Amino acid sequence: MDYLVLILCLYLLWGLFQALFFVARGGRKARPSNLPLSPWPLPIIGNLLQLGDLPHKSLAKLARAYGPIIKLELGFVTTVVISSPALAKEILQTHNAVFSNRMVPDSVMAHDHDKLSMLWVPVSPLFRYLRKIYNSHIFSSKKLNLIQHLRSKKVQELITSVRRCACAGEAVNISEVAFRTSLKAISNTIFSLDMMEPLNPARELKEVVWQIMVEVGKPNLADYFPVLKKIGPHGSKHRLEAHFEKMFDIFEDLIERRLQLRMGSGSIKCHDVLDNLLDLVEDKTETLDMSLVKHLFLDVFVASSETTVSTLEWAMTELLCSPEKLLRAQAELHQVIGKGKQIEEADISRLPYLQAIAKENFRLHPVGPLLAPQKSGEDFIAGGLAIPKGAQVLINVWAIGRDPSIWDDPGKFMPERFLGSDIDVRGQNFELLPFGGGRRICPGLPLAMRMLPLMLGSLINIFNWRLEEGATPENMNTEDKFGIAIQRAESLKAVPIPT
Ligand code: HEM
Repeated sequence: MDYLVLILCLYLLWGLFQALFFVARGGRKARPSNLPLSPWPLPIIGNLLQLGDLPHKSLAKLARAYGPIIKLELGFVTTVVISSPALAKEILQTHNAVFSNRMVPDSVMAHDHDKLSMLWVPVSPLFRYLRKIYNSHIFSSKKLNLIQHLRSKKVQELITSVRRCACAGEAVNISEVAFRTSLKAISNTIFSLDMMEPLNPARELKEVVWQIMVEVGKPNLADYFPVLKKIGPHGSKHRLEAHFEKMFDIFEDLIERRLQLRMGSGSIKCHDVLDNLLDLVEDKTETLDMSLVKHLFLDVFVASSETTVSTLEWAMTELLCSPEKLLRAQAELHQVIGKGKQIEEADISRLPYLQAIAKENFRLHPVGPLLAPQKSGEDFIAGGLAIPKGAQVLINVWAIGRDPSIWDDPGKFMPERFLGSDIDVRGQNFELLPFGGGRRICPGLPLAMRMLPLMLGSLINIFNWRLEEGATPENMNTEDKFGIAIQRAESLKAVPIPT
């Protein structure tokens, strides 16, 4: 009720303001003629209702009606949506400097995360420094190679747990097992330990990561009506503050234990990310301090879990709905690796069809369908149309991935389209941008491109799969759910059968 009154007051104020503005301009309408086309906005809320529950789909529909660049008023936030590879290239490559900063959601300002996290800080010396840390100390090929045995071990554990279900004839909840494996792989990469072990004090991390993802994925009125920021209409920032605090407590505890271990006589280095970063913190010439380390770990855990899980779940869904593609992938694996064997990272380059499946899956199901929101740093002309300074810029990579003028039969899962094609996901081909592009391209790409084929390839090389009793490709719910990453609306449950 309070909100209704507030919205009504805002509405009256807005009407009054518009009337005064109109009179002050002498009754002329002063709209630059080269603004992108725009569906008609309602007073106050603008085009918010047109977003619906699945904004990437609603925006793709609007792009079909209004063109590849459209302008929306989302409450008080002018938003430009881009839906073509040529315009995406202008934003992410040719003029990337203008669009490199983020539009920061209100909730992530908890604990100053917006000022200390690479995801949100504006391009600045701090941003470049953090980027260097990710590229050189976390995700460089050398660092990733050094601990690939840890990831391999986690995939082995995944296989063991799936084998148990296979023996019992039980269905596996794919997102659940993938979430565990992905969290274990990342916690081993960072801390050389398994946070999912029952006796591990950090095991609650899984629950907190999940709660953070749910919270950040929720729409928040304060992002569209800045006047509501002080009130915090949904309490999101407050709840995130508590979740972040829990994560920081866990990290502090792990850091403290490691510091003590390092001080012990004859201590052995772990060569994991924590050791590398503690070396940098101790080197006083470096910018890194404990606070930055904690915010960095927070980003890594949150950004890596859901993205990897959701991608794997979609890939399994597509394969189970296209048995002939699954058979072709298995034939390749049987021939190159040997039937029933777990695949290793070094095998991936010898598996072109598996790689094609990964690309086709990213084309149809990019987990960040609108990328992370960018902000226009100046008035800018793209494709002959004006993007106002300060506007939020969204790139609808979901719409680009399903554009019939770019892809033959775009709704169909056809990995073959990528065989013999140079199109890659590394931000250079603007028709396929699951990891974004430009200076803010996903830094976790090298890890994701190892983990996904590793998990997917092993799951289909070691097991045959059938859908749960009663489920068929035709009656499966393959709808999306919009959140921090788009997920399947319904979890995939499938029964493994040893090959
Ligand atoms: C399937 C896996 C993944 C997908 C599809 C994915 C996708 C994305 C996308 C679309 C963006 C936004 C890029 C843009 O706005 O241009 C992004 C940013 C980011 N991702 Fe990922 N990601 C994945 C895995 C990971 C992993 C494993 C990590 C880290 C461990 C990670 C960390 C980040 C961070 C820190 C950013 C922010 C970069 C910045 O703003 O400068 N991601 N990711």
